[in-house]
Amino acid sequence: MQPFAFLSVLGAAFVWPVAAKPTETLPEPPSKRATLPTVTVSGNAFWQGDTRFYVRGVDYQPGGSSAMQDPLADTDICLRDIAQFKELGINTIRVYTTDNSASHDECMKALADAGIYVVIDANNPLYSINRLDPAPSYNTKYLQSIFASVDEFIKYDNTLAFFSGNEVINENVKSTKAARYVKAVTRDMRAYIKSRGYRAVPVGYSAADVSQNRMQLAHYMNCGTEDERSDFFAFNDYSWCNTNFEQSGWDQKVKNFTDYGIAIFLSEYGCTTNGRDFGEMAALMSDKMTHVYSGGLMYEYALEANGFGIAKIPSPKAKQIEKKEGFDKFAKALKQNPAPKGDGGFTSTTRAVACPTKDANWLVDSTLLPAIPAGAKKLMSDGAGAGPGLKGDGSQNAGEGTSTGDATPGSGTVTATGRPNNSDNAAGMNATPLEKAPFVIAGLVMALSLGGTLLL
Ligand SMILES: *[C@@H]1O[C@H](CO)[C@@H](O)[C@H](O)[C@H]1NC(C)=O
Ligand SMILES: *[C@@H]1O[C@H](CO)[C@@H](O)[C@H](O)[C@H]1NC(C)=O
Repeated sequence: MQPFAFLSVLGAAFVWPVAAKPTETLPEPPSKRATLPTVTVSGNAFWQGDTRFYVRGVDYQPGGSSAMQDPLADTDICLRDIAQFKELGINTIRVYTTDNSASHDECMKALADAGIYVVIDANNPLYSINRLDPAPSYNTKYLQSIFASVDEFIKYDNTLAFFSGNEVINENVKSTKAARYVKAVTRDMRAYIKSRGYRAVPVGYSAADVSQNRMQLAHYMNCGTEDERSDFFAFNDYSWCNTNFEQSGWDQKVKNFTDYGIAIFLSEYGCTTNGRDFGEMAALMSDKMTHVYSGGLMYEYALEANGFGIAKIPSPKAKQIEKKEGFDKFAKALKQNPAPKGDGGFTSTTRAVACPTKDANWLVDSTLLPAIPAGAKKLMSDGAGAGPGLKGDGSQNAGEGTSTGDATPGSGTVTATGRPNNSDNAAGMNATPLEKAPFVIAGLVMALSLGGTLLL
């Protein structure tokens, strides 16, 4: 018996009276039962049970960013690549585009069987915030799609986290004004998860690494009232080019983010001008970084025109991939730099930081966030319903259902957590206010599974 299973049994004993009551939320059949413990965020770190969890993964977008292709909705595609992920020895993938009207049961199960977690970008090119005209794009139609993506993926135990946006704010100083909207989306996703009684899957933003607004944006995402702050922060960093910890500036990025107050990981990394030896891995897994960072995602698995990929995929449905030079080098870097033992020097508490003030590089002049559009607020109790998928006109120009005015800080706080109406939603079985200690949650899942097995 693995140590974790032992803890689960303890947890099961503890929560049994709670689990024994509701018979309407029968768990999934044993074949689809959890094979991986859920990952939680606590203090400035991620946890798999009571073991510190480091993201050791790849960014996964076969077909490229413009393809509008969901690799987790197509078993031929995901199974082909999961075999390679196993060979690499990764524990996480990030998927940029998913179809919230499709089923992901088979791919998510195969990933779980391979010990792989998934970070989901809730946005896609059709349903997203317009960085230079954010107000009209922050609307009910958009949030309905975002919430439907949460509904679709939160039911899988190996969903690690959600991104509320990717590089919406960039080098264009005008795009910093979109930060209010991205932060509102983060708030709304976290409130939706709580309102629906779901498992507390962490929500955060994936930032472009822009020196002029790096610290302002990071501080902005972790300032204000509890409901407004992110569960974690991530950024895309390509500065390790033919260099080392000091020359890449990573030492400064550790220094500047020390005491940042929430978990951080790199949502993309991997320069192409350094021979692709992935020296980043040694740094990420060393005690130079683990007190502040929780690993990262190498950009990227599938080779595109930009030349970053380590696997050439001749055609979307090709049965074989062709390993590029970086493939074996990345596998080797992972192997030579295992996740460190112990807690990595993490900080057990979280804290808010001060909001940045407006200046020439940061145009946000208020700490107030836009209020959630009325129609989207209703979805908190009603549920998002069917997702639009990767079809239709998208939401940016919906022209209605926009926000009216600013929110009162604290307005996103959810006190009473209702169970989802839809009792055959698999995620419903995780609904519990007991989400305090990771092993209790895992125990509850286990208890329900055991209960279900006994009842079946
Ligand atoms: C670290 O913070 C200082 C002070 O805010 C800033 O001047 C510097 O550019 C930051 N360095 C990095 C690498 O973010
Ligand atoms: C359940 O659904 C009904 C109508 O579909 C709605 O009126 C009610 O508010 C919902 N309750 C919860 C807790 O979601």
